[in-house]
Amino acid sequence: MDEMLGGTRITYLGHATFRITTAGDEQIIIDPFLTQNPQTPEDLKQVGELDTIFVTHGHFDHLGDTVSLAQQTGATVVANFEIVSWLGTQGIENVAPLNKGGTLEIGGVKATAVHAFHSSSIAQEDGTTVYGGEPCGFVFEFESGFKLYHAGDTAVFGDMQLIAQLYNPDLALLPIGDRVVMSPFEAAHAARLLGVKHAVPIHYGTFPFLPGTPEEFQKHAAEIAPDLNIHVMKPGEDLAS
Ligand code: NI
Ligand code: MN
Repeated sequence: MDEMLGGTRITYLGHATFRITTAGDEQIIIDPFLTQNPQTPEDLKQVGELDTIFVTHGHFDHLGDTVSLAQQTGATVVANFEIVSWLGTQGIENVAPLNKGGTLEIGGVKATAVHAFHSSSIAQEDGTTVYGGEPCGFVFEFESGFKLYHAGDTAVFGDMQLIAQLYNPDLALLPIGDRVVMSPFEAAHAARLLGVKHAVPIHYGTFPFLPGTPEEFQKHAAEIAPDLNIHVMKPGEDLAS
């Protein structure tokens, strides 16, 4: 695992939120759902310095604290065109639009936005809803060559095989909560299509409508993707070697 990570530190903050420190000490957060995230340990809700924020889609449990974090830290926000446009209306100017198919080198990583089969909208404080554009996942390539796929919120889809062919990720962060994202059964097929050797189940148990469990994922994967190593992470934990 250490060899694969190549000095990249990956910390799970619960739900779909990850903090990443690159080998070159760049600070990244993916889907910064912190203050309202029931899974995030209290002492990790303040993230300190931050260079780059990646947002997979506009739902509250992913866009999360993006506005306040961007204000506090000056970090660049990477998201699709609709989300960065909306952030502009909130006074956030330091943004980098990235739509599916595009690759951006930023903050010590090469990030590619890839497809996700889901919905996206932004619920505003005044109760109105804004179109959030297409949801996405990201493939990150780090200095060492290590490749990480964050699937965002998604159903399984056949073109995960295309993600494997084009980007060949080493490790996949896969939602397993069911109902509004992949079930554990679909997530096992996702791992098969992606051809990954390592996966971390995410986006389960946070709310009552996310009943999928890592045990079900392990059970299905044993049949569907038997070579997969599943790393169940507790919020606050680093990906262990
Ligand atoms: Ni969502
Ligand atoms: Mn979600």
